[in-house]
Amino acid sequence: MSYKTRAAITGVHGWVPEDKLTNKDLEKMVDTNDEWITSRTGIRERRILRTPGWATSDMCTEAVKGLLEKTDTRPGEIDMLIVGTITGDMIFPDTANTVCDKIGAKNAFGYDINAACSGFLFALATGAQFVANGTYEKVVVVGSDMMSSIIDYEDRNTCVIFGDGAAAVLLEARRDGTGIQDFVLRGDGAGREFLHMKAGGSLRPPNAETVANREHYVYQDGKRVFKYAVEGMVSTSQELLRRNHLTIDDINWIIPHQANMRIISSVADHLGFPMDKVTINISKYGNTTAGTLGLCMWDFEDRFKKDDNIILTAFGGGFTWGSLYLKWAY
Ligand code: COA
Repeated sequence: MSYKTRAAITGVHGWVPEDKLTNKDLEKMVDTNDEWITSRTGIRERRILRTPGWATSDMCTEAVKGLLEKTDTRPGEIDMLIVGTITGDMIFPDTANTVCDKIGAKNAFGYDINAACSGFLFALATGAQFVANGTYEKVVVVGSDMMSSIIDYEDRNTCVIFGDGAAAVLLEARRDGTGIQDFVLRGDGAGREFLHMKAGGSLRPPNAETVANREHYVYQDGKRVFKYAVEGMVSTSQELLRRNHLTIDDINWIIPHQANMRIISSVADHLGFPMDKVTINISKYGNTTAGTLGLCMWDFEDRFKKDDNIILTAFGGGFTWGSLYLKWAY
């Protein structure tokens, strides 16, 4: 039987900072408590990058270095590197170029994709096109955010949720039926009102007033985001099932964005999918924005089997959301 050429994930590696910020630590910083955070979000601790002089590119670099070692790939073999992030080292240049420099990927080019919590998903779908159509052989896709750099640790609505981390995957062509089969990606710019950072861009360039007003931090209308997140992840997953002639029983794993344990269980519930086949690591990392899907893959890699049907699904600022269906390649 002959299969068409598809881009497949042939390796995954993650990296998180060692420093932990626990719910107990947060109790000392804002008016909250461990019981509230655990029961409302499922998060017990998150990792915070505190290494002086380090930023998102350094987390990406660590994840990619581990990936290259694991997949026996030399930096010079990488054709393209895409980073999903909203917390790049600088507004420009993009972080992907910095990462290529730091890992010595002399033959690669790349760019960042800003799709917030959907960043990894959008980057993965983008990178896969270059591999599936034969343009490039080895594409690295990274999802990483240093959320601690844009979180207000005086705002209990947001500071309990987010953490720092990075994960990277290698995409290569496969002709054995495995790899990325299909995806449904969506966006609705009207959602920008409910999840954003008010200042620092061209709309409100940074000045003393924006700093004094604490406008350089994440703002979110949590309840609204919650509702749209469940709807968005469920509807795009259902659309994927429908158009690939699958039922939920054909799916071996769902890898959801780790924003809130209640969002994850609500998505699984709506899809009629068992929770023990949903990858969950939110309790130890919180929401690492573009980092979550790759970090889940990294944590659960040894449980996936070749040909497993897997759905990745995410929702984030923009609004951006979507789902991707793949057959695990190893
Ligand atoms: N500790 C204690 N109380 C808190 C709290 C905290 N950390 N954060 C909020 N509260 C309070 C609120 O002030 C509110 O009090 P009030 O009723 O006196 O006004 C009460 O808890 C309920 O707040 P609410 O916002 O309704 O809680 P919630 O159940 O919706 O949970 C989120 C809040 C943020 C955890 C939840 O809405 C969420 O996860 N939303 C999605 C976020 C997300 O996914 N963001 C990333 C992009 S994908």
